[in-house]
Amino acid sequence: MTATIGTGVPVDHDDAPAVVEVDDLTVRYPVGRSGFWGRQTRWVHAVEDVSFAIRRGETLGLVGESGSGKTTIGRTVLRRIPVTSGRIRFRGADITTVGGEELRRLRRHMQLVFQDPYASLNPRMSVLQLVAEPLVVHGLASSVDAAREEVGALLERCGLPVDTADRHPHAFSGGQRQRIGIARALALHPDFIVADEPVSALDVSVRAQVVNLLQDLQGEFGLAYLFIAHDLSVVRHISHRIAILYAGRLVELAPADAVYDEPRHPYTEALLSSVPIPDPPIQRARQRIVLQGEIPNPIDPPPGCRFQTRCPLVQDVCRHETPPFVEKAPGHWAACHVR
Ligand SMILES: Nc1ncnc2c1ncn2[C@@H]1O[C@H](COP(=O)(O)OP(=O)(O)O)[C@@H](O)[C@H]1O
Ligand SMILES: [Mg+2]
Repeated sequence: MTATIGTGVPVDHDDAPAVVEVDDLTVRYPVGRSGFWGRQTRWVHAVEDVSFAIRRGETLGLVGESGSGKTTIGRTVLRRIPVTSGRIRFRGADITTVGGEELRRLRRHMQLVFQDPYASLNPRMSVLQLVAEPLVVHGLASSVDAAREEVGALLERCGLPVDTADRHPHAFSGGQRQRIGIARALALHPDFIVADEPVSALDVSVRAQVVNLLQDLQGEFGLAYLFIAHDLSVVRHISHRIAILYAGRLVELAPADAVYDEPRHPYTEALLSSVPIPDPPIQRARQRIVLQGEIPNPIDPPPGCRFQTRCPLVQDVCRHETPPFVEKAPGHWAACHVR
């Protein structure tokens, strides 16, 4: 897959160095106790054995329904949530357990764009303060005022009017606030950005503009993105590859076109069947798959495939054995006993 980054040099993602590598990541949250005298801690199995890599200049779309573990993966990779097991590498170095000053320095290179641009920006701070703050915290500007020029350039680059800096976030629309959030994430020139449903809270009419901005910035700076979404309608345009998450496990990971054109997992097919297609005859011809059955309880997930309770293709083996995540075609991974 080829794209143009930075100086206009085409970059082959297959050859670009991996920025982030995640191996067998498992994240569990302790939730209260049970048993005799409450001696047993109970755990939410939020993320189980998830592996992927993202290269320089590449976007990996991460799609799954609410509660499937997307935010947990994004924040754990940024080392904001403790890793239960597995390994995270950043630019080749193992960061699974780094702490203290090393972690603080690392944070500069990995940023988060939040889902809700209303809740994520402190309303008492001016836009100048908000965008300058990371620069001051990391010692790249001596004061907020010293960063004014740089902040102005960032805001302009993110498509905001010149007088933005001295106003407060409440003066702006949702789309503009998300641009402010992006400018703030960009201030430290990161290599990697987790964008956690960055357009889900925005009007449909401004979503494409924000996605285009993220794409332009990627081309300019060679950024790697983990772009999180709860359905397949937003991610195709921006993603080079797409990973599909179901109840904490990856069920499919493939180049974006392959996910849409030749899905290998029945859950992906169900997700695709609910993506609106602009062409009415195709929309009519395609059958909508409505999933029946319950999502497994993350506190005590059943053995075998986590999709077994809703899968139209379920077999006996699916109830006992976890399907391995295997390469079904070159670069096309899926976890299904049947397909
Ligand atoms: N701090 C927490 N403590 C306990 N359980 C949590 C916590 N955060 C998330 N969870 C649970 O972990 C699972 C995954 O949540 P999350 O990563 O937020 O999913 P998503 O972003 O896909 O909606 C859900 O079952 C959720 O209830
Ligand atoms: Mg989330």
